[in-house]
Amino acid sequence: MAEVKIERLPELDQETLERLIEIYMRGYEGMREYGGEGESYAKRYLRWCWNKAKDGFFIAKIGDEIAGFIVCDADWYSKYEGRTVGAVHEFVLDKKFQGHGIGHKLMEKCLEYLAERTDRVELWVGEKNEGAIRFYEDYGFRRVGQSGIWVRMVKDLRKGDNKNR
Ligand SMILES: CC(C)(COP(=O)(O)OP(=O)(O)OC[C@H]1O[C@@H](n2cnc3c(N)ncnc32)[C@H](O)[C@@H]1OP(=O)(O)O)[C@@H](O)C(=O)NCCC(=O)NCCS
Repeated sequence: MAEVKIERLPELDQETLERLIEIYMRGYEGMREYGGEGESYAKRYLRWCWNKAKDGFFIAKIGDEIAGFIVCDADWYSKYEGRTVGAVHEFVLDKKFQGHGIGHKLMEKCLEYLAERTDRVELWVGEKNEGAIRFYEDYGFRRVGQSGIWVRMVKDLRKGDNKNR
């Protein structure tokens, strides 16, 4: 696979938004219950992510093509934690790019970014999304609760400890 570059998304223009929606729709193919209700949901959700966490919105690029992205929020009020922590709002790779190590690169960037700004990160993952749950457990995320079909996972962060695996 050609070189993968991880960059902060500089701006969410129309063309980029369309590509991110495509990645989101393809990435969750076969897992529709976890990937929203279609393109108009995806559009609203991805705009929400961008407005909430611009500084932590990272994309993986192969040449000029965006392969996937991760949205890391350093300023998330978690009602479960009762305080502000970090959060991963979205993490998805286009189907054709899954399983090639690109997710690891995005996650490492995300944890490096969050570890500089907060001491804990939470995320929610579908209960049947075993591949992703294993992926997160490998990074030291622990299952701490469940709400409906969603499993809540958290990980403690330490400054300078950005390998995390
Ligand atoms: C989860 C996801 C972002 C991981 O990115 P990735 O680039 O496929 O993952 P990598 O290739 O870097 O790492 C693969 C690891 O993740 C796990 N994995 C999770 N989903 C996988 C998939 N669809 N294909 C291959 N591996 C997957 C494997 O256990 C593998 O572990 P290993 O490195 O010890 O062999 C990506 O598979 C994806 O977009 N999945 C669909 C959307 C999703 O579930 N997002 C998370 C929601 S909370």
